[in-house]
Amino acid sequence: MSQVHICEVGPRDGLQNAKHLMSTQAKNAWIAALAAAGLKEIEVGSFVPPKLIPAMADTAEIVAFATKIKGLKVVALAPNVKGFERAVAAGAHKVTFPVSASHAHSVSNVRMTPDQMVEEVRRCAALPHAGVEIEGAVATAFGCTLQGKVDEDEVVRIAVQLAGFCDSVALADTVGYANPAQVKRVFTRVRKEIGEKLEGAHFHNTRGLGLANSLAAYEAGVRSFDSSMGGLGGCPFAPGASGNVITEDLIFMFESMGLDTGIDFDRLLEARSLLVKGIPEEPIYGHTPLAGLPKGFRAAA
Ligand code: COA
Ligand code: ZN
Repeated sequence: MSQVHICEVGPRDGLQNAKHLMSTQAKNAWIAALAAAGLKEIEVGSFVPPKLIPAMADTAEIVAFATKIKGLKVVALAPNVKGFERAVAAGAHKVTFPVSASHAHSVSNVRMTPDQMVEEVRRCAALPHAGVEIEGAVATAFGCTLQGKVDEDEVVRIAVQLAGFCDSVALADTVGYANPAQVKRVFTRVRKEIGEKLEGAHFHNTRGLGLANSLAAYEAGVRSFDSSMGGLGGCPFAPGASGNVITEDLIFMFESMGLDTGIDFDRLLEARSLLVKGIPEEPIYGHTPLAGLPKGFRAAA
């Protein structure tokens, strides 16, 4: 067991916001390379109307491919009952639901208020879904580009409701507003209410604080992190949202701290070259891939 668990969300969060499309074949090759590098969990796509996000139109095919990879947990995002039913039919191992704490973002993103979205997830949890995990992700938990401030009490309230019927709850900084002090405070508050049900942290690097926020979450007891290769990412329905915390740099940070992620850096770079090959026009980021590993660097394991 690695000491820190990373979920690669590039194929979903990254590609949903990319200006260019990646072919199904290239997505599959990239996902296989990510798994070969040691990633044990990948969010491979979303079950949303293809007209709304054309980049996610092939998610059922991607899930069918990815679930053949041994030892890989295949995650898909769903925004409603229809998306959940599609995800379960496709064979996803875990389905994550975006439940915004910001009323404005919720309506923009899923055309439901936060309370309506909680009820939608509750309906999904009541449907047959043997062996499929359900994650409630509290989106815009640290602020919102549409609404501005998001009340921390509202984040706690939604997390508590989701914990009542979800297998796990995550907190997401959808638009990159969080700071480390806030991250520690909010994760600690939610942990006090729902204990071990609080699992994942999902940060965007919009203002360069992705790593700092991840470390703050680690210090608040979080061991499961979302990140995106090359720092792709962002929500098309949250103006100003940009890329996730960069997988390559996050792994370097934890490994250099002596925390095993189970991921091989050289093989991760091979996956990065497949990402570039699959979507060459898209700008990608990452400090460690550019600088290389320090002389004498040893991975944690
Ligand atoms: N997958 C595929 N098709 C779907 C669908 C799904 N999950 N949900 C709804 N549809 C179809 C409906 O069948 C309907 O089709 P029709 O026009 O042929 O009859 C059409 O989409 C509209 O359905 P409706 O229920 O009215 O949806 P809506 O237009 O109110 O949109 C959501 C609601 C939730 C489907 C949409 O806002 C959404 O997908 N949001 C997620 C956005 C996202 O991915 N954000 C980034 C991740 S956080
Ligand atoms: Zn995101």
